[in-house]
Amino acid sequence: MMSGDVFRCCCSAAFGLESLVAGELRSLGLQNISTENGLVRFDSAIPEIFRCNLSLRFCDRVMIILAEGKCLSFEDLFQLVSSVPWEKYIHKDEAINVSAHCARSKIMSPRDCQSITKKAIIERLKARAGLRVFPETGVPFPVLVAVHSDCVRIMLNTSGDALSRRGYRTWNGEAPIRETLAAALVSLSPWKPGMPLCDPCCGTGTILAEAAFMAANRLPGLTRSFAMEQFYFTRGFDLNAIRREAENAVDYANITEIYGSDINPEAISLAKRHIRQAGLENHVSLSVIPLQEVCLDRQNGVFVCNPPYGERLSDQAASRQLYRELHHLADRHPGWSLCAISSDPAFEKAYGMKAHKKRRLYNGRLECTYYIYYGRRNPESF
Ligand SMILES: C[S@@+](CC[C@H](N)C(=O)[O-])C[C@H]1O[C@@H](n2cnc3c(N)ncnc32)[C@H](O)[C@@H]1O
Repeated sequence: MMSGDVFRCCCSAAFGLESLVAGELRSLGLQNISTENGLVRFDSAIPEIFRCNLSLRFCDRVMIILAEGKCLSFEDLFQLVSSVPWEKYIHKDEAINVSAHCARSKIMSPRDCQSITKKAIIERLKARAGLRVFPETGVPFPVLVAVHSDCVRIMLNTSGDALSRRGYRTWNGEAPIRETLAAALVSLSPWKPGMPLCDPCCGTGTILAEAAFMAANRLPGLTRSFAMEQFYFTRGFDLNAIRREAENAVDYANITEIYGSDINPEAISLAKRHIRQAGLENHVSLSVIPLQEVCLDRQNGVFVCNPPYGERLSDQAASRQLYRELHHLADRHPGWSLCAISSDPAFEKAYGMKAHKKRRLYNGRLECTYYIYYGRRNPESF
């Protein structure tokens, strides 16, 4: 592999977060960025792909696109996979893991796509690399096949586990939010590092950890590993040097005033565990207190929260009462902005006021709206 080789790459992201991912890629200096539903494409060399894995806060995986084309039959798929120079990437003992998903296409069987892709890879390696045996006892080589509207993308998953798995969250409480969405809520809010931030129904503490990481300039992937670090074809690159450079850039002293509270003591003990596992125990304050009683003495700041959505009819009245309480919380803190995500279309009615700004986001498969209410800002307080 030549150090200057540039690959067409893509990041998968939840619907609604594509433009945030594109912004992150732009700030990393990447080129030829384009967005479509759930996907952002860009060009990158191997060291920058590693930097993406370490740095991207809002996307699920970073992939190299190895081939792309229209496939109306399994024979077309076999030919497309055979056109990839697998011998450049795969060492003789790597474990070739193929996963596939299909939607709205003539070839609609993920299982057949997996077996045909693997067969085509092995046939090519036999013919071009002269390999006869494939013990697959080495490191994983994760290949993804995405079939959508008869177009097929053959990709190499450079991340391995989803990037939302930062490593600090090991226990899930009641309806935790994904780390990538939590980071997006913080980033879409008026909060900037240096300002106070409070999540008054913090559950397991995900929004707090993500905000603290941003304030400390701590990259989300800093303490986890990525599939690409084990590939044979990336061994000529000093990826550890990139990790060390990112470690040196962290400054926990920049985290100021991040507060979390919840009515549930179990949630707070999980939040304490996660905040400790994220290395943030001295930087985030946590307390058991209902949001009806939250009263902070700083004049300005931002509330960012993911309150219960009341999806079951039996919970709806209670969650709508809580939205009303969020309005009272904002009234007690006139200099603070309040941002909340909910799937309940009656959120604004229950809150008692139209939001200043709204954005459609998805929490998993659930269509939600992110409501932003600006506080009366006193610029001298920052
Ligand atoms: C959807 S969960 C939040 C999950 C959180 N974002 C996480 O990542 O774990 C909603 C949280 O609101 C809390 N809650 C419900 N009523 C509350 C109240 N009156 N005051 C404070 N917290 C409350 C629940 O205990 C629960 O932890």
